[in-house]
Amino acid sequence: MTTLAFQFEEIAPRELKPALLELDGISRETVEAHYKLYQGYVAKRNEILGKLASVDLASANQTYSELRELKLELTFAVGGIKNHELYFEHLGGAGGDPDGPFGSLVRRDFGSVDAWRADLKATGLAGRGWAWSAYDWDEGRLFNYLGDAQNTFPVWNATPLVALDVYEHAYFLDYRTDRALYIDAFLDNLDWSVVNGWVSGYAIPI
Ligand SMILES: [Fe+2]
Repeated sequence: MTTLAFQFEEIAPRELKPALLELDGISRETVEAHYKLYQGYVAKRNEILGKLASVDLASANQTYSELRELKLELTFAVGGIKNHELYFEHLGGAGGDPDGPFGSLVRRDFGSVDAWRADLKATGLAGRGWAWSAYDWDEGRLFNYLGDAQNTFPVWNATPLVALDVYEHAYFLDYRTDRALYIDAFLDNLDWSVVNGWVSGYAIPI
């Protein structure tokens, strides 16, 4: 039997920081909705990797459309994991204007914090899934990129530093259709020390 058998490790969901259940303007119910989806993505990722290992490529019944389905589902699940881990990790702070190295990047590449914030907010209102403020290593600067789904990654070689979830589950319970109010609440809960830790950890040149 010809298979795609390979070794992989099952992963477990990261625990939710208690601070995330006490955000301003983003309810406990909403955070729990994200977390439940995140747990589902982890389970799905483990399940699909297991299924891929037993796909029989030589079987007459095996079609590449089935493999396509599994591989697409895998990217969706892995995207959901990575995006939510960023999201959870950098919330729980006091928001305000970014300081430190990320603040310097924002001011250098957008001219002002207000211009960066307006661009990120517009990107979040325009998208269907995510908006990321990412450092693009090829351009050598920050951009606010848009992704319509968990498995939509707009560019390679960019490191997301702010991950704004704009799927409906992120705001509908708290703000109904007023996504702009949710984006303000998201920004008010960012922990800049976490973001600055990423900027330093990745050695992003300022
Ligand atoms: Fe989410």
